Amino acid sequence: MNLQRRALLFGTGAALMLPRAAVASPTVLRAEPVKAQILPVGDGKTDMLGYNGSTPGPELRVRQGERLAVRFDNQTTDASSVHWHGIRLENSMDGVPGLTQALVKPGDSFEYDFRTPDAGTYWYHSHNRSWEQVAKGLYGPLIVEEADPPQVNHDITVILDDWRIDETGAIVGGFGNMHDFSHAGRLGNYAKILPSRDSVRLGDRIRLRLINTATARVFPIRIEGLAARVVALDGMPLATPRPLQDIQIAPAQRVDLIGDVTAAVDFLFVLRDDIYEMGSLKLEGDNTAPASGPIEALAPPNVMQPKDVPDQFLSLKMEGGAMGGRHSGEDIWAFNGISGLSDKPFASFSQGETAVFDLINDTSFPHGIHLHGHHFFEMNEDGSLGDLRDTTLVDRGTSRKIAVAFDNPGKWLLHCHMLGHQASGMKTWVEVL
Ligand code: C2O
Ligand code: CU
Repeated sequence: MNLQRRALLFGTGAALMLPRAAVASPTVLRAEPVKAQILPVGDGKTDMLGYNGSTPGPELRVRQGERLAVRFDNQTTDASSVHWHGIRLENSMDGVPGLTQALVKPGDSFEYDFRTPDAGTYWYHSHNRSWEQVAKGLYGPLIVEEADPPQVNHDITVILDDWRIDETGAIVGGFGNMHDFSHAGRLGNYAKILPSRDSVRLGDRIRLRLINTATARVFPIRIEGLAARVVALDGMPLATPRPLQDIQIAPAQRVDLIGDVTAAVDFLFVLRDDIYEMGSLKLEGDNTAPASGPIEALAPPNVMQPKDVPDQFLSLKMEGGAMGGRHSGEDIWAFNGISGLSDKPFASFSQGETAVFDLINDTSFPHGIHLHGHHFFEMNEDGSLGDLRDTTLVDRGTSRKIAVAFDNPGKWLLHCHMLGHQASGMKTWVEVL
């Protein structure tokens, strides 16, 4: 009896996987102006930027360990580049103008070709004037598939974003607004989910890949209608899946869930004294052979472990912003008193060294700190290693230690992913020799 249910489920799962696997990822990513339906259907469309005709850009999918080769074609009027957020790739493919490559001018192109060592949920986005280009839509999902993916009826990517938009659907300008930069960043006035499919069956087992692509908004999210476990953070599998509770997703962070549908799946943005509907996956029919087994851990990540005794101990203090005495210009924010990139790296490591960073938030706003080219462990109070991430949220007035084994040679950015903060100084870089 049980066996048959399993067999059926596997059969269904495989059938559902086929069409997706058959759709090859595009080999060209063309940045260009697009019209997007951000407001509800029937209301106006929005002039934005996108890739290959849409924002978000196409979902790129590659098998773990394969290379992804994409020609980036810039058909916008602004110089740009593509950063592959969270991928532990070769430094020359990291997409950071001025540090790892030259700007790609309007009409020019750039060949990206890199390894994808870790299965999981990633994304790509512009890394030039990102506070404006990402807000205008230059981003998309990048999924690295496990060799042996968990059996689910649907694997659904769910982008969370917000936009600053007027009633006609036009994006409100003023991207470089200093008031935004010196406060929380450019927060939207309209937020919703952009799911890769919008219906499920009662009883389906689904995987949700949540990606926060907003330039500044931290989303506190409650998901109803799904008995789920968190199986990965920032692409990296958890050793033990955790029961899903309300979750907080900072800009650029990802959360993977696997769960069983118990009702229409609702995404709620939980404010202090209000709840805002960000969208839902509607119910269409019943799954007559629902999965019954436990939700298991994904294959463990293959990331170099930090040494017990770090080679370097560094403290990185976030400073500035409104209430921190700085209100304008490119030096609103700083790390250890220095705004923006200097000629010398913040720190240098030889390959294989372990560093512990004490990230100290001495400002009145939260910051989501992102390291390129590596994942790091958030450290627990007792010094043990916690979650493996590429972006960590540090609340105002708090600090967090992270441990990194630097094993990827090159020049790597370390910055706040509230993109207006990055633009106005909260960034630095490290070098691995
Ligand atoms: Cu997703 Cu340097 O950023
Ligand atoms: Cu910040």
